[in-house]
Amino acid sequence: MKYFLDSAKMDEIKEAYETFGIDGVTTNPKHIQNSGKPFLTAVQDMADWAKEQGFKDYNDFPISVEVNPHFETAEEIMKMARELHAISPCFVIKIPCIPGGVEAARKLEKEGIRTNLTLVFSPAQAIWAGKFGCKFVSPFIGWKEANGEDCRQYIQDIVDIYANFDWLRETEIICAAIRTPKQFVDCAAAGADIVTAGLAVYKDAINHPYTDMGMGRFTAAWDNTAGN
Ligand code: E4P
Repeated sequence: MKYFLDSAKMDEIKEAYETFGIDGVTTNPKHIQNSGKPFLTAVQDMADWAKEQGFKDYNDFPISVEVNPHFETAEEIMKMARELHAISPCFVIKIPCIPGGVEAARKLEKEGIRTNLTLVFSPAQAIWAGKFGCKFVSPFIGWKEANGEDCRQYIQDIVDIYANFDWLRETEIICAAIRTPKQFVDCAAAGADIVTAGLAVYKDAINHPYTDMGMGRFTAAWDNTAGN
């Protein structure tokens, strides 16, 4: 399973890459807002950093950048997708699962512009991404679980459906809006390709109170050992 960082903050991207060796980045308009930068500045900064790292394209390090959510027609979405694609070969264009969005994703993939179908909340929606050859599909987990839904079967259903057909296997499943280490485990157990989460969730997934307790015990024992 690959790990992506869900953030547009450069300090977080750098820390997550150094500390956790993240495999990619996902963003959305909220993350761009949280970066405190105008949209084009934020995406250019990510593009420049990816180039500095020596990443050649989205195969080395994919960065999902979402189109303007005001755009609902395929024409508007495709125009913006082409402009974003021209900024960095690492960019994968994130497109909402709406009628104009799936049309745009299908046509952009034929042009060689890779896409990430987002705002996916059901297996029925997820199938479209595979049918149209999207690079990624992003079923959201955290939003549904915050709404009281257990997502283990939902994740498993998408993984199982994708395993059923050759034409679905080209699309990688990004379990998105991961909020807890347990959700990492649920995604891994189901066989999801990728998880994307904020930096705080990565830190939570490294920590365990017993690890801290063990460190206390072992340092005390070390210090009490004759000759140390
Ligand atoms: C995923 O690709 C999305 O950017 C993300 O997970 C959406 O959820 P959030 O912004 O609530 O974390």
